[in-house]
Amino acid sequence: MPTPVVAGNWKMNTTLDEAQRLASEVRDGTGSDVGCDVILCPPFISLQAVWNAVAGSQVKVGAQNMHHESSGAFTGEISPPMIQSLCDHVLLGHSERRQLFGDTDQTVNLKVKAALAHALRPILCVGETLEQRESGRAQEVVANQVREGLSGVEDITRLIVAYEPVWAIGTGQAATPETAEEIMGGAVKDTLSALFGDAASEVPLLYGGSVNPGNAASFAAQPSIHGGLVGGASLQADQFLEIVRVVAEAKV
Ligand code: 13P
Repeated sequence: MPTPVVAGNWKMNTTLDEAQRLASEVRDGTGSDVGCDVILCPPFISLQAVWNAVAGSQVKVGAQNMHHESSGAFTGEISPPMIQSLCDHVLLGHSERRQLFGDTDQTVNLKVKAALAHALRPILCVGETLEQRESGRAQEVVANQVREGLSGVEDITRLIVAYEPVWAIGTGQAATPETAEEIMGGAVKDTLSALFGDAASEVPLLYGGSVNPGNAASFAAQPSIHGGLVGGASLQADQFLEIVRVVAEAKV
C-alpha cells in the first residue's frame, strides 16, 4: 500500500505572516512518527517562509500550480526551476485552475511532465462537475482526465492523484465515502492500471472536497483512498492535525 498522504491546499489564503504561523503550528503538532506524508501547499509568495518553517521536520511543501516552461516571456507565471528548491510537490489541474484559469487536460499534461522532469511530485487533480455526474458521466470524465493528464508519462513512481468532485469542493457537501471509492477504485485505479500495470498500486490516491476531522476517517477507511487533499480545514492547524491523525490511524 502507498504511504498515506494528507495535503493542505491553502488556496488564495494567508498573508506571509499567517502562512509562517500556520506552518509552524502544523510543524509543532507533527511528531517524527506521524504515519503519513504531510504536505502544505501555501501561496507562491509564502513558499520560502513555509519551507524554512518546516525545515528539519516531517512536513513537506507543495506549490499550488506552475507553468510548464522553465523560463521566458510568461508574465505572472512561476516555473518548475523556480519552485524546485522550495517544494517537493506541486498541485496540478486543480478544478479551480481548470474552471477559472483555463487549464486543460493538455496544459495539465505538459505541467505533469515538467514536474517529473524537475524532480517534483505532481499531485494530479481530477474530478467531475455536478452536471457531468447527473448525466451519468462521472467515471468517463475522470478516466479521461487521468489518461490525458498522463499522456506520454512513463514513470509514475512519484505521482499522486487527487479525486476532487467539483460539487464537493468548498460546499460542505462531501461525497459519501462509497461514492468516492466508486470513482477512485474505478475510473482512477482502472485507468492507472491499464496504462502502467502493477506500478499503479503504489500511487497514493487522495480524496478532496469538504474533508474535515469528522469525516476524514470514513474516507481513509476505503480501500482505494490513501489520504486527503484538504482545503478549508487546512487553514486551522488543530483541524488539519486532527485529519492527519485520523488518516494515519485508519491506514495503519
Ligand atoms: P475544501 O476542503 O475547502 O472543500 O477544498 C477542497 C480542495 O479544493 C482542496 O484542493
